[in-house]
Amino acid sequence: MKIAIIAGSNRKNATSTHLSAYLARQIERNRFQATLFDLHEKQLPFFSPDEYGTTHPQVVALKQTVLDADAVILATPEYHGSISGVLKNALDFLSQEHFEGKPVLSVSSAGGAVGVSSLQQLQAIVRNLHGINAPEWLSIGGAQRRWFETATPDEYEVGHEIGDRIHRVLDHFLALTAQIRKPKA
Ligand SMILES: Cc1cc2nc3c(=O)[nH]c(=O)nc-3n(C[C@H](O)[C@H](O)[C@H](O)COP(=O)(O)O)c2cc1C
Repeated sequence: MKIAIIAGSNRKNATSTHLSAYLARQIERNRFQATLFDLHEKQLPFFSPDEYGTTHPQVVALKQTVLDADAVILATPEYHGSISGVLKNALDFLSQEHFEGKPVLSVSSAGGAVGVSSLQQLQAIVRNLHGINAPEWLSIGGAQRRWFETATPDEYEVGHEIGDRIHRVLDHFLALTAQIRKPKA
């Protein structure tokens, strides 16, 4: 099964993107396929309803990645108690066609201890896109982010407590995906 991960920071060494890369590696270890769509690396134009059918290559790639996926992970930095502008812009290119019936895990990185406002807002957007919000969500905040400040996922030394939480939430999400998306007998 395929999991699309949209990393929603427009920062080169973003902790939310490094956490996304870590999740991708763990997903592959669990024998699922992971595709990381990094919005810093793959810059999108501003969404305009006048250009719904745009053939911009990165927009086409984003739509195809989510369409092909069985489940989606949305990762955002917490900005002013909300999600990043680049992630909202990316989501505006997508519609219910891309999310219908797919489990979605919301993930945030915040300067404060935990980034709950952005997670709540992400879940509201997911509901409007007809995705299925995973019952759990994931946030790294404050000092927890230091494990994700290095650029190479192989070097992450994820702390015990946050590591346990990441693996527990991800295991639950993958089990939910397998349950919901399993081929009908
Ligand atoms: C414009 C801006 C607004 C921010 N607003 C908040 C906020 O409301 N709450 C918070 O906890 N952190 C806030 N922060 C801190 C970021 O959430 C924090 O640095 C986060 O780890 C950035 O994620 P990244 O490493 O993926 O870029 C803000 C940072 C910026 C640049």
